[in-house]
Amino acid sequence: MTPPTPPWICPSILAADFARLGDEVSNVLAAGADTIHFDVMDNHYVPNLSVGPLVLSALRKAGIDACVDVHLMVKPVDRLVKEFLLAGADYITVHPESTEHLHRTLSMIHDGGAKAGLVFNPATPLEALEPVIEMIDLVLIMSVNPGFGGQAFIPSSLEKLRQARGLIDACSRDIRLQIDGGVKIDNIGAAAAAGADAFVAGTAIFGADNYAATISAMREEIAHT
Ligand code: DX5
Ligand code: ZN
Repeated sequence: MTPPTPPWICPSILAADFARLGDEVSNVLAAGADTIHFDVMDNHYVPNLSVGPLVLSALRKAGIDACVDVHLMVKPVDRLVKEFLLAGADYITVHPESTEHLHRTLSMIHDGGAKAGLVFNPATPLEALEPVIEMIDLVLIMSVNPGFGGQAFIPSSLEKLRQARGLIDACSRDIRLQIDGGVKIDNIGAAAAAGADAFVAGTAIFGADNYAATISAMREEIAHT
């Protein structure tokens, strides 16, 4: 899979209607989404439970061939990395707190043919990035505490984005800088101005009546930064 050209709009399936998940994913792709953001929660690393690799396999079997970025909020993480590689993930993003051996986990992702992401919670400094940045394809900055959709964007995430942008620009790899949590039409421009080039949005897209109009409005805001 050739990754889409940034900027990316990445609808989070967490806010989709799960009774019609295949249609929801097809509709949001037809509306202009670049990747499908697949939030995986285990009721241990985060206090919520969502979906596992069976659901991604089902979407693949149903013909969804778009880029899927899997955000693993699970601990321990390695066994599920393997499952999601088999299920057809394109990007797999892990929290540094979820693994004792981050280098090994990132190696597993690459060895399995996927791209590797590293995600930072609001209170987690970017320290873990530097030693492994040559293995990273995506940096995800959480702008809410992970576990639930529909939370408010934490403003200090913008400064974190600027720091991450500096580290990425100092490195020769093609690395996406993704923001996740409370992203809406009225704050996506600020996230873009702070350096983000991939934007996760759950409720702002799936909660809207018109997915295409919402995604276009987001792109307009990004373009005007
Ligand atoms: C939170 C998830 C997010 C979230 C996005 O733990 O990682 O992807 O569900 O949803 P909204 O856009 O509703 O904040
Ligand atoms: Zn997420």
